[in-house]
Amino acid sequence: MDLPFAESYKIKVVESIKKSTRAEREQWIQAAGYNLFNLRSDQVFIDLLTDSGTGAMSDKQWAALMQGDESYAGASSYYNLKEAIRDLTGFEYFLPTHQGRAAENVLFSALIKKGDIIPGNAHFDTTKGHIEFRHASAVDCTVDEANHTETNFPFKGNLDLEKLETVLKKYPKEKIPLIIVTVTCNSTGGQPVSMENMKAVKAMADQYGIPVFFDAARFAENAYFIREREKGYENKNIRDIVREMFSYADGMTMSSKKDGIVNMGGFIGFRHQDDFDKATQFNILFEGYITYGGMSGRDMNALAVGLYEGTEYDYLNTRISQVAYLGERLREKGIAVQYPYGGHAIFVDAKAFLPQVPQEEYVAQTLAVELYLEGGVRSVEIGTLLADRDPVTGENRYPEKEWLRLAVPRRVYTNNHMDYIAAALINVFERRDSITKGLRIVKEAPLLRHFTVELEKA
Ligand code: F0G
Repeated sequence: MDLPFAESYKIKVVESIKKSTRAEREQWIQAAGYNLFNLRSDQVFIDLLTDSGTGAMSDKQWAALMQGDESYAGASSYYNLKEAIRDLTGFEYFLPTHQGRAAENVLFSALIKKGDIIPGNAHFDTTKGHIEFRHASAVDCTVDEANHTETNFPFKGNLDLEKLETVLKKYPKEKIPLIIVTVTCNSTGGQPVSMENMKAVKAMADQYGIPVFFDAARFAENAYFIREREKGYENKNIRDIVREMFSYADGMTMSSKKDGIVNMGGFIGFRHQDDFDKATQFNILFEGYITYGGMSGRDMNALAVGLYEGTEYDYLNTRISQVAYLGERLREKGIAVQYPYGGHAIFVDAKAFLPQVPQEEYVAQTLAVELYLEGGVRSVEIGTLLADRDPVTGENRYPEKEWLRLAVPRRVYTNNHMDYIAAALINVFERRDSITKGLRIVKEAPLLRHFTVELEKA
């Protein structure tokens, strides 16, 4: 008999979570303005809002934490992290920051100016936010397959080389300070970018004299998919795949809260000293001195360990199999999800789930509210709310896909939790015809509105 799947770790510390009644949840979600960010965590049974900063650290990470060096300058923890980054990415220079968007803020302060164009694959919302905040534009060059939910295309995070070249030809080099390749591509469903694509993007970028930076929050999950799906990488060590990936970049921004398996932290990696020098003054101004940036010594120590744990094959196999297990429970019941499954989350196609709810009534948010009411499961909308309004016209931007994202924290939940989540969503699916109305906005911020928006029933 084949041995079944089992987690590559056992549990040492547990944390209680609380169930609630549907009546309680109805009251809480209304008081929260139908925005799940406004719920208190004890009003949530299973929290799939994000996989960011919500992972469980290992005994070895907690041990490393105790040995943190809190010296203002030149801490041993800084050197531990520097060595881990150099070993895994090949980048000789790095700046610590308090999280991923801080890395974007520092790097973009050094590189991006008004009117610039930044091509990439479905830039993450904070990335796009930091670009638009500087009156520059993010141009999405993702392959069209990313929008075909049921097409079994192995690398739906890839950049379309023709789309990219059109942008590189259209604008002068001075207007394109960098190309951003997000690995894995969160916005298209945690979908990987192939090694072949990274290599080709870098070759094209070199031809036009433009640097490539990776948004590397989920680089290890990307490497796992390359090993699983790309010819020639079947038997390769994950860390060697990671090293090859980064060889096709001039630098990286990192939210360490994902594949670094820490609760807070980030960094920027650089291949070239002049980029590092340009960014350094902004890091000191916004984050902190070069050798700690936005991080405590203990957190840098835990991250140095986390980067190695996050690139272990057995860990990645456990994690990605669990996400796929959840996807499978939904797909076998006929619920349309991004397929093949991504690394950190299952993306449910909300327009296919609730075709009768108009997109103007925030269909993925409507589904998120229904899932919460059904089982106390908190998910997140990746749709019109997240897409914000067009900064020029002020009109809603309607993305082609309205996703309900079920993001799975690392090393936190068991497959019983996955079964519970699936059952709750399947119950909603079975009564979907009764959900005919969505939501309307009562109050919103001009940028990144999804975090604070208040809604009411339409
Ligand atoms: N880049 C990507 C691809 C991300 O997914 C995130 C965060 C960031 C950058 C920003 O990093 O949160 O550390 O400032 N994603 C989280 C999510 C918030 O839920 O997907 P941060």
